[in-house]
Amino acid sequence: MAVFICFLFFLISSATACNRCVHQTRAAYFTRASALSSGACGYGSLALGFNSELLAGGVASLYNDGAGCGACFQIRCKNKTLCTGKGTRVILTDRNDNNQLDFVLSIKAFTAMALQGMSQHVLDQGIVDVEYKRIPCKYGNRNLTVRVEELSQKPRYLAVKFMYQGGQTEIVGVDVAQVGSSNWVSMSRNYGAIWDTGRVPSGPLQFRFLVTAGYDGKWVWAQHVLPADWNLGAIYDSGVQITGIAQEACSPCDKGTWK
Ligand SMILES: *[C@@H]1O[C@H](CO)[C@@H](O)[C@H](O)[C@H]1NC(C)=O
Ligand SMILES: *[C@@H]1O[C@H](CO)[C@@H](O)[C@H](O)[C@H]1NC(C)=O
Repeated sequence: MAVFICFLFFLISSATACNRCVHQTRAAYFTRASALSSGACGYGSLALGFNSELLAGGVASLYNDGAGCGACFQIRCKNKTLCTGKGTRVILTDRNDNNQLDFVLSIKAFTAMALQGMSQHVLDQGIVDVEYKRIPCKYGNRNLTVRVEELSQKPRYLAVKFMYQGGQTEIVGVDVAQVGSSNWVSMSRNYGAIWDTGRVPSGPLQFRFLVTAGYDGKWVWAQHVLPADWNLGAIYDSGVQITGIAQEACSPCDKGTWK
């Protein structure tokens, strides 16, 4: 019994908060190039511009009802004869319904894991053993960006999509208000990266985002995002970026850089 308690204590104390938990799984690739540009996150063909077409469909737990859309991962295949130790960086733009595989990758991402000259051999395997970890998304000095979706119906209904979300966190709540007003209206996740509301404030609009940070949340305030004459299909700079890093619990925690 004492041994058991000791062991239990060891398990709990060794599963510490970590921002680089390494997960083991298998990954396949999409044979149709268009699959990811029509992905469940709703990015459409814009997804192809996010990360040099290094895109991924994530299993339900990673897709997380859309909250995982835009998350970034470093992923590498484990066969050292075929694959680099660095692997590649992918962004989640779709859901993958095969729960034997955490990821289905774009062909470009799948072959980016290969050593020089080994791309075809990796493709020939079809499904490969991989390991991956969540990493912060980086878009240079680009800010979080808001696109007004075509399903919006001015002035009654507003649907927006968020893109270029930096850091390693999830947007779990969005409020909108007229600039200068504190009458915040909460938006709902329609699907993927798209949020909407049927109670649209008039005038220019500000947003605030509830973002996961560690084990709790934090608000990020974008003071002036949409002009009063916002247009369907237009893309607006939010003027803010999200840079936080959320923690998971795992053991051991990977402190190294994959090279
Ligand atoms: C790695 O890939 C090579 C070439 O396909 C194969 O011969 C070898 O068995 C693989 N190694 C492992 C550990 O799977
Ligand atoms: C990001 O937002 C800041 C204001 O907060 C602005 O000065 C800057 O130009 C924006 N960056 C880009 C690339 O639009």
